[in-house]
Amino acid sequence: MAGKIPERFIDELLSRTDIVDVIGERLQLKRTGNNHHALCPFHGEKTPSFTVSQTKQFYHCFGCGVHGTAIRFLMEYERMGFREAVSRLAQRVGLELPAAAREERIERHAALYRVVGRAAELYQYWLQRRPEGRRALNYLKARGLSAEIVTRFELGFAPPGWNHLAQAISDHHDLVAAGLLVQREDKRVYDRFRDRIMFPIRDQRGRIIGFGGRLLGDGQPKYLNSPDSPIFHKGRELYGLDKVFESDRRPADVLVVEGYMDVLALAQHGLPHVAATLGTATSTAQVERLFRLTRDLIFCFDGDAAGRQAAWRALMNTLPVMQGGRQAHFLFLPEGEDPDSFVRSRGRAATAAALREAQPLSDFLLERLTAGVDMTSIDGRARLVDEALPLLQRLPVDVFRRMLIERLAVLTQLEPDYIEACAGAGERSELKPIARSARRLGEMPAVRRTPVRLALALLLHRPALAQLVDNDELDSLRDLTIPGLPLLVQLLELVHVEPHISSGALLERYHDSEHAAALWKLATWDPMVPDFGMEAEFRDAVARVRGLLHRKRLQYLNERLQRGELTAAEWQEWVRLKRHS
Ligand code: UTP
Ligand code: MN
Repeated sequence: MAGKIPERFIDELLSRTDIVDVIGERLQLKRTGNNHHALCPFHGEKTPSFTVSQTKQFYHCFGCGVHGTAIRFLMEYERMGFREAVSRLAQRVGLELPAAAREERIERHAALYRVVGRAAELYQYWLQRRPEGRRALNYLKARGLSAEIVTRFELGFAPPGWNHLAQAISDHHDLVAAGLLVQREDKRVYDRFRDRIMFPIRDQRGRIIGFGGRLLGDGQPKYLNSPDSPIFHKGRELYGLDKVFESDRRPADVLVVEGYMDVLALAQHGLPHVAATLGTATSTAQVERLFRLTRDLIFCFDGDAAGRQAAWRALMNTLPVMQGGRQAHFLFLPEGEDPDSFVRSRGRAATAAALREAQPLSDFLLERLTAGVDMTSIDGRARLVDEALPLLQRLPVDVFRRMLIERLAVLTQLEPDYIEACAGAGERSELKPIARSARRLGEMPAVRRTPVRLALALLLHRPALAQLVDNDELDSLRDLTIPGLPLLVQLLELVHVEPHISSGALLERYHDSEHAAALWKLATWDPMVPDFGMEAEFRDAVARVRGLLHRKRLQYLNERLQRGELTAAEWQEWVRLKRHS
């Protein structure tokens, strides 16, 4: 990718930066041993559970689960972009951004933000000040929106016609990149949005990044959204979230709806903590973002079959981030109603009451799983467990998961630990010990310590341990069948190349990888190994992994032997392995 900041630069930057200084400049830190504590700036609390580790160079909150390096802290706390955070830190320690990474992409994005912001102003002007806008204003009025809401949400109007925007803004290249102009084969351009009410979409930092556009009358498509662009990702952003954040940095709950008009109508009726997905299914990225703002999400859907299906998808995408005391609720509206029509016809109080009645995620989940199952028969109960297991495997090991298991146990008349063991067979959940719940319960959760997981955890606590594994031994670990082993090998290789890398920098490398969550959990898990015992424990864990591989191979060869299929080379290997086992 053009202008990408090289990983080596990030490593260097993080090795020169002390996260304790960066955070200490912004929060009141108290030192205890190698760690520093503070009241967590990302959730309300009275006793400090926000921890900054100097040796590992990362922060972690046992209360709400946020974590990251100095870079991520700046991004979250100062609401900076990645690049901005990196260049701020680089400035601090007097490092120069690599030339290739420097301006190009920042400039490129800045140009897009500029042109999109300019377009938003024009749309607004066309709605409010131009004769063509009258029809649109009347439409909004007829839908019951007040002038105040129309202004607060900066609604605009794209007049009918093919080139209003193209004529008003000369920077066609950027307008095309932002999706506001469409380029034809012959290179000529035309306005994407025509004869539509325009809803500007802002990111959480308040920058306009795209639009939704609604036709004034009937026609297809009713809504048109900006296409994804370098600054706009439908699957990650939510309409109205910036306003929620602006009005309240710690709302008790946030309501998630499907439509732009729903956000506006609810806001107008005094329910401002509302955000809308952008015409796509609710994604885990969106849910995670919402949970950074609040601990309780209320998803609002139609009561019809399509609405229930969409709700189920939202549930599936919420499961992986259900931890740390987070809650999710589902509200199903009467058929044919959406939040807009509901609040209009029944008013604020009735809507607020309906929200309080929303169904907890666990109820919705169990209701759906038990629907049509005969719970009085063994077959029925077995089927329930069967269908619940994949869902349990999506859940992080945390209090919520345990409670769900206990409810399933009651329903199925099985032992909770038995269900737990069945669900634990999934690798995902195995890799997810949670320090927070452990602390709350005063003990470590019952996490099975597999050798691979222990080796990974120790390596993340002290990357230098990688030196204990030489290249031959590393090669002997290359096996794809043991979960987590390829990742361990990758980490070992990485530290071999960069022996002085900190835990934080190591984790930063994996920030966008599918392994990120699992690695963070392991890094913040306390494997209860004293400092002086780490080397021995690590060696032992690696030796046990090798033992495991050894036994697996032997078993495979034994099977072939019994079938008379061993080749000469395999025969020799079999003899050698036999001798060593
Ligand atoms: P709805 O069809 O439920 O519309 O779509 P609505 O929000 O009730 O709109 P009004 O009340 O008729 O004006 C819900 C959301 O789905 C997306 C939009 O984000 C919309 O707000 N959508 C819908 C599209 O992206 N394209 C469409 O053609 C329709
Ligand atoms: Mn509607």
